[in-house]
Amino acid sequence: MSACAGESAPPENQDTPSSTVATAENDSGLSGKKVYELMCSMCHGENGDGKGIVVLKTKARSFIDGGYSFGNTPEAVYKTISNGIGGTEMPAFKDSLTEQERRAVTEYVLAFNPENSKQRTGDPIMRVADTPLIARGHLPSVSEIAPEHPRGLIVGTTDGLSWEYRADDLRLLAVRKGDFVERADWGGRGGTPLKPLGEIIWLNQNGDPPPPWKLITKEGEVELIAKLAGTTVLDGRAVVRAQLEDANSQLLGYVDMWGSSIIEGGEIVPIRNFRLIGFTVDAKMQYEDKQIDFFPGYPIEFSK
Ligand code: HEC
Repeated sequence: MSACAGESAPPENQDTPSSTVATAENDSGLSGKKVYELMCSMCHGENGDGKGIVVLKTKARSFIDGGYSFGNTPEAVYKTISNGIGGTEMPAFKDSLTEQERRAVTEYVLAFNPENSKQRTGDPIMRVADTPLIARGHLPSVSEIAPEHPRGLIVGTTDGLSWEYRADDLRLLAVRKGDFVERADWGGRGGTPLKPLGEIIWLNQNGDPPPPWKLITKEGEVELIAKLAGTTVLDGRAVVRAQLEDANSQLLGYVDMWGSSIIEGGEIVPIRNFRLIGFTVDAKMQYEDKQIDFFPGYPIEFSK
């Protein structure tokens, strides 16, 4: 997961909005399978396992595992294929493939993971079935005083909750219950506004929380920035990873975050889970009001 392009989100796609539903076999242009065999398999492997014949600086991921850094929705994958990923060998196919061919190969790639293929292109409502979904795009504000977030991230978990993050400095803003997300402009231009459909059941400090991570050293407290490093769906968990940096952009370590829930008195209660990894500094950490002790070099998990 850390092998991905990190911060650099794929640039906006310039296509005109369209609700064309791509099928595996188009009568015009190449089928998803043909496109894949001709233009993708050398890097991503014939069966999508990431073991292509081309030797890459950044190892291409296995599509079978279904973990995508830029979201596992058809729209997100379509954008990645159209625009490529800056800083990696993943090329942009906007000019070399027609829109239909790109949609067809999107379906083909997603189908490597049987869980993903349930979500179809063209449907404006994204539904969470038995695997979590991750969507990126422009988020409306979650409360009267909270700002909008041009760079947002929503994770839908299979318990019917949606976890809404700002993605510029990764912070959980709210948790919703109910339907997941409506995409306002499927495959369209602009920041892909996302419309969360659930009802807010938990709001993080009015929906505009201050930076939650601090490093406590002998000299004092250092506020940390959480830069989105990637997302992945693994063992049914949708994990969002951030790299924690100080103001001088020095990388201190990583935090993986994922949401879960318990039922308490008939109500669903969201739980935030964290795993801190890769920290070598000998200091304490603080998350919101919680002090975290750890041995440098060892991962630590906690829930809140
Ligand atoms: C020259 C090698 C190369 C070719 C050709 C190539 N890719 Fe990629 N691709 C990469 C690399 C490297 C990455 C970045 C690492 C990763 O995430 O797998 C990537 C990433 C991706 C991702 C993003 C995965 C994520 O994390 O969100 C998708 C989707 C993708 N490629 C699809 C395709 C498709 C479809 C084609 C053919 C039309 C294709 N690639 C052709 C090398 C290539």
